[in-house]
Amino acid sequence: MRISVIKRKIVNVVLLNIAFASAHLYADSALYKPCAVCHGDKAEGNAALSAPRLAGQNAAYITEQLHNFRSGKRGIHADDVLGQMMAESVKKINDQDIQRLGVFLAKLPEEKVDSTEGDIQRGRQIYADNCLACHGVDGRGVTPLYTANLRILSAAYIERQLEAYRNGWRGDHEWGTTRSKGMRAIVSQLKDESEIADLLAYLTH
Ligand code: HEC
Ligand code: HEC
Repeated sequence: MRISVIKRKIVNVVLLNIAFASAHLYADSALYKPCAVCHGDKAEGNAALSAPRLAGQNAAYITEQLHNFRSGKRGIHADDVLGQMMAESVKKINDQDIQRLGVFLAKLPEEKVDSTEGDIQRGRQIYADNCLACHGVDGRGVTPLYTANLRILSAAYIERQLEAYRNGWRGDHEWGTTRSKGMRAIVSQLKDESEIADLLAYLTH
């Protein structure tokens, strides 16, 4: 084969790969379309609907949560209206699409959240003593542990989820997962509201 023919073949393969990659990306953003109503066009979240930011969340965490919503391990408690609303949205999604949504959303850029008032130094210490082992040194989660990136979440959303664990909306003894039950046990160790306020100040600073 002449060099020029080989070159042309290589160029063709490269072009074909680029075409495949962008077709995939487009398909994945189309997959996200029905979610944008609540989570925002850029997956930035919507405070009015209490829908969290998903852009920059960890893929492993997103996919596990979508499986949990779909299989009735989250968003199932009678009083958890928002969770139920979310669970309804993923009832018909298949495993492959869940996987692709996780990868797609994790690649979208993170953004700094609004900071809240509190004692950041005390919050840092509470975080180091109670949360760091699983959510990582920087609070961005640890993939093999399926933990969330806490740095992209608004203080209001985090507070509501800590409350959800405390109420047993997440981590219920009957239908919760081992991991959500573990997270529920941790929340019960937090002493008072001032600890949560300082934790939030640290996580959002
Ligand atoms: C009708 C509004 C609505 C739609 C549509 C919707 N969501 Fe949600 N989603 C929510 C709300 C509200 C929550 C927070 C639930 C809670 O408080 O537990 C949520 C939570 C989540 C979470 C958990 C995030 C976390 O930090 O724990 C993921 C992941 C998620 N949604 C992904 C999706 C995807 C992907 C789609 C589209 C297939 C979608 N959502 C469609 C409202 C919606
Ligand atoms: C033993 C490991 C572990 C420790 C320690 C831990 N977490 Fe978690 N955390 C998890 C796991 C796993 C999940 C996901 C559980 C689930 O599926 O509900 C989670 C979920 C969360 C969520 C929900 C995130 C979302 O996007 O909805 C918040 C908020 C959270 N943790 C905050 C904390 C804080 C604050 C601390 C310290 C006080 C802490 N965690 C300590 C493992 C841990």
